[in-house]
Amino acid sequence: MELNKRRMALLALFVYTVVLCACGRQQPDAKNHLYAGVACYNKSDTFINQFITCLKDQFDKLGADDFEVSMTIRDAAGSQRTQDDQVKELIAAGCNILCVNLVDRADPSEIINLAREKNIPIIFFNREPVAEDMMQWDGLYYVGADAEQSGVMQGELAADVIKTGGIADRNKDGKIQFVILEGESGHQDAIIRTKNAVDTLKKQGIVLEKLCCSIANWNRAQAQNRMMQIIGQYQNKIELVLANNDDMALGAIDAYKKLNYTESARPVFLGIDGTDAGLEAVIEGKLAGTVYNDKEKQAQAIAKLALSIIKGKTSDEGTKPSTEKTGDVKNKYIYLPYSKVTSGNAAGFLEKPL
Ligand code: GAL
Ligand code: CA
Repeated sequence: MELNKRRMALLALFVYTVVLCACGRQQPDAKNHLYAGVACYNKSDTFINQFITCLKDQFDKLGADDFEVSMTIRDAAGSQRTQDDQVKELIAAGCNILCVNLVDRADPSEIINLAREKNIPIIFFNREPVAEDMMQWDGLYYVGADAEQSGVMQGELAADVIKTGGIADRNKDGKIQFVILEGESGHQDAIIRTKNAVDTLKKQGIVLEKLCCSIANWNRAQAQNRMMQIIGQYQNKIELVLANNDDMALGAIDAYKKLNYTESARPVFLGIDGTDAGLEAVIEGKLAGTVYNDKEKQAQAIAKLALSIIKGKTSDEGTKPSTEKTGDVKNKYIYLPYSKVTSGNAAGFLEKPL
């Protein structure tokens, strides 16, 4: 009898435990819940930092009474191994969509395998994986901008400044002596921007003389250091500085400031991105122009794409992944256009509404 009682008590406890566990494990309906895991390559990168702020805003906007949105951000601080671990953690934490700004754009396999195992789609952004990797699985997308377009626009802006006689040919030799400050080697936005800016200037009939090209990894302090050395070598021969991004253009300006060059004795500087500091420098006339890398629209495209994936659609109004650049790859790529920025329109970009 005593034994029976104990058996009954144990059975009751077992049933209670099973019921409890089942309730505890109950997941929110996937279609009513978006949990984004965002992995970025380096938050100390000015543009990426401002981009992440836009992404937060955009994911926040998706939330509604019947639709829960959450987001966790991880910073790999420049290490691909760290990023692989962070993606593992994001998956373990229950993310149902991953937004990945790869550290090494040529090395996404570990992340793709981790996500694929759990069937969690990945939206890569800003650092474009190579096409073969994008073909590894259907659940891979890319949101970014067309590097070639930014280079062409920078070249056009430079050509406009040179042709309107504002600056440049200081030594009146009929050529523009220029310096390039380049982003990370191997990044799609580095070599392609440089090549297209230079080719565009040449196409516009400008005769160029390249003094030097130096890598400064998108970074203002590194660009300042490089530029100090370059000025030491070429002194007032430099007439134009083309930088692959605003931070490096600003670093070059810092170098001239540090060496006490008056503004009129400095070359013409052009950047790309339209970061807050970059736009302010354009407004102040320190930077001749920049090319707006539309972080607001790119962030919006990521959020809308994430929503449509979670809700089970492949595309949504306004976020139609295009096949334009890759031809054979369907519904995987979204490229947002760049725009030219000069002192005439820079203020409008500082308070850019969506
Ligand atoms: C570029 C941007 C750079 C840097 C880089 C990082 O698109 O122009 O400033 O942020 O991305 O991948
Ligand atoms: Ca000259």
